[in-house]
This record gives sequence, C-alpha cells and structure tokens, in this order.
Amino acid sequence: MNILAANWKMHKTREETRAFFRRFLELYQPTATHHLHTLIAPPYTSIETALGMARNTPLWIGAQNVHQEEQGAYTGEISLPMLQDLGVHFVIVGHSERRKYFHETDELIARKLHRVLDAGLWAILCVGETLQEREAGEAERVVQKQVEAALTPLDANHIPRLIVAYEPVWAIGTGVPARPEDAEAMHRFIRSLLSRRFGEDGEAVPLLYGGSVKPENFSAFAQMPHIHGALVGGASLDPERFWKLHEILLDATG
Ligand code: PGA
Repeated sequence: MNILAANWKMHKTREETRAFFRRFLELYQPTATHHLHTLIAPPYTSIETALGMARNTPLWIGAQNVHQEEQGAYTGEISLPMLQDLGVHFVIVGHSERRKYFHETDELIARKLHRVLDAGLWAILCVGETLQEREAGEAERVVQKQVEAALTPLDANHIPRLIVAYEPVWAIGTGVPARPEDAEAMHRFIRSLLSRRFGEDGEAVPLLYGGSVKPENFSAFAQMPHIHGALVGGASLDPERFWKLHEILLDATG
C-alpha cells in the first residue's frame, strides 16, 4: 500500500481548510490513485470541516495527536471518543514535536498507540533519531528502542491498521531531508524489527519517510523499495505541491 499523509501541524483556519480542499479536489483523481491512499491531518479545529469537504471521496481525515485517557480533568486535551465521534480515520502518534515540546515518552506513546489501534482506527507511529544521535552512530539503536517500546502492548490484531513513519528529527522542517539511501537503510531496519515481532503481518506494515519532503526531492525516496510513501508537513499545506507528490509517487510505483 502506498500512502501520502499530510500533517498540517498548527496551520489553517476552517476557511483556509475549505480553500485547500476546493483546489485539491480539482486536482485529485481517485481512479488514478486507487492504490495510493491520501491521508490528511488538520488541526483539531478543522477536522470537522475537512471531513465535510472530503465526504464522498476516498480521502482519510485524521488527528495529529490524542490524549491517552478516555475522559477526565485534563484541561485543553482531546480524547479518542471525541475523535471517534467526529469520524476520524486515523491518528498520528509520537510525532517528534510531541516528544520534544510536550515531553511525550516512549511509554506514553505506546499507551496512545494501543488505544487508537484497539479502537479500530489506523495509527501513524512516528520514530526517528536526533542529529547528535545519528552523528554518534546511535540512529538504529534509538529507532529500535522507539519501535519496540511502541509495539510492546500490541498484538497481531492491531498490526493491520499500523503505519510507521521514519522521520529523522534533524530533517523535519529544516529543508534538508535525509539521504534517500540512508532513509532506505533505516526503513529496511524497521521492517526487520516489525517482522521479527509480528512475522508476515509485520511485513505488510506501510513505512513512510518524513522530513522536508517536497516535489523537488521526493522522486529518489519514492523509488526506494522499502519506502511506501511520505508523511509531509510544509509541502502538504499547498494543494498543488501536495498533489505533485502524488504524481511523483504514482510515476515511481507504476
Ligand atoms: P516537514 O514535516 O515536511 O515540514 O519537514 C514533516 C513532519 O513533521 O511530519
């Protein structure tokens, strides 16, 4: 399965969301893209608007985060039942900005991931090393720890709805992506971790690259055998550029 997932982060009001979809839906060709799934994660305040705009299309709308508890005194937080009530298809879990700015730990991320998958939604689990970790030769060790911690509470029933995004922290939002061959090597490594734990089911988990993906650099990633698509921040905010990434992935995957 090939996937392009948009992470809008803290961008776009409801009106800006409507404007994005008006243009994107002019470009988007569901029949040409039947083996390419498009996922969009707007900010919470735009989810309902996005769901309305995407009605009767194959587009999936999701959330960028979720609280680990069902309900309670957690001022400012959003629970999974609230997201299910809206009708989201997926949730991003463990994005490096959540890990860095909101101090989310591997254990917390594992709880969130379990809750999302257990509820029958899809999840994009994000993992990736910092620049210091890569320079110290620890990239694989760090990613292994993140992946294994997140998988700990999961069983085989959860795996068909899991997507893993490898996003080296130093490549996110910097304009400097990883080298495609380094990303491919890490994807192969993540694949081995998944299949060691889940056998054939682990083989089928889609693996996305994320970090400064844009039309100008995506083609080399799209051609890598273990890279099934991308999780895209900045370049997903513009409907033309986001659609261009679809054309590149379609070209690369035939
Ligand atoms: P970027 O963000 O494409 O703007 O680097 C990617 C991400 O954070 O998922």
